[in-house]
Amino acid sequence: MKAIQLDNYGPVTGLKEIDTETPALLKKQVLVKNHAVAIDPYDVKFIAGKMGTSEELPLIPGSSVVGEVVAIGSDVTDFKVGDRVAATRHQKTYAELVPVGQSAATKVPDDIDDIHAVAAVIGAATGYQMIHRDLNIQPGQKVLVQGGAGAVGSVAVQAALNIGAQVYATAKPADFDYLKSFGDVTPIDYHTAYENELSDFDAVLDTIGGAVSIQSAKILKTGGILRSIAGLDEKALSAFDIDAANTFSDGKRPNLEALFADMVADKITFRIGQVLPFTLANLRDIHEQARQHSLQGKAVLKFDTF
Ligand SMILES: NC(=O)c1ccc[n+]([C@@H]2O[C@H](COP(=O)([O-])OP(=O)(O)OC[C@H]3O[C@@H](n4cnc5c(N)ncnc54)[C@H](OP(=O)(O)O)[C@@H]3O)[C@@H](O)[C@H]2O)c1
Repeated sequence: MKAIQLDNYGPVTGLKEIDTETPALLKKQVLVKNHAVAIDPYDVKFIAGKMGTSEELPLIPGSSVVGEVVAIGSDVTDFKVGDRVAATRHQKTYAELVPVGQSAATKVPDDIDDIHAVAAVIGAATGYQMIHRDLNIQPGQKVLVQGGAGAVGSVAVQAALNIGAQVYATAKPADFDYLKSFGDVTPIDYHTAYENELSDFDAVLDTIGGAVSIQSAKILKTGGILRSIAGLDEKALSAFDIDAANTFSDGKRPNLEALFADMVADKITFRIGQVLPFTLANLRDIHEQARQHSLQGKAVLKFDTF
């Protein structure tokens, strides 16, 4: 099969095209013929070497896949050949064929196309999980989503609104109309010292990390809950009487299934950015762009011609 391999961390020229063996399938894995991958900040940082460089190279990077099941392991009970599934997995998705554990794979409803399915598996699924599970938002609670216009944040905002929370979200002013398109959201310009104006929040989702987690702590009420997916300084936060912790996406089926159901019901939507053929040149280019600035909408690369 054809694939893109990472030979060196750092410049995007560390990515190259290879011909390699079809991946061996474990008993509880399905083999997916790849239709499309999404570009997530994790992939961008990993290839740049900003997530550490301890994973041995070369390897096939990429963390999202949507496509058709073409083979199943001997202990797979939940899928059959021909099913269309989407998943996130650690590496190996920049390839024509991708092995995926059945607990991570989710059938894609007919109403969701490949582009939206693969765009959902990391960013959107994480925002959804944070609101429903990690923050366990309840109706009427006052919640701030840091990075509310991003892939994670925009879905967190909608999930919290759907629950009936009072939702605030930080973004740049150019994204305020986008935030308001979701409903009764109070947009906050992240360039301001908003932590001096806001108070008494029940919960904050931090998708930015660093100093933003301190700003988040300042606006929480005593005992308020802060969850970060971007790395908070737990030592600095020990001065606050709040429940603060780092967390992460579990990448499992129940959360993605529930998100897909809300997408089909038009309760959750998100921005799609560039949609391009999956080629080495396009992959390098989009990674380069994402290193310079946040991508406006999820970029997706399709395998039609690879
Ligand atoms: N731990 C996990 O399981 C997990 C899972 C998914 C994602 N993540 C991480 O979560 C982060 C966000 O991911 P994403 O996919 O949502 O990224 P994204 O789509 O690029 O969105 C980031 C958003 O944050 C905004 N922003 C930048 N600086 C800000 C600040 N100081 N305050 C508030 N907003 C700010 C950006 O706006 P501009 O347009 O102004 O730059 C952009 O809208 C990434 O670091 C990613 O690696 C972690």
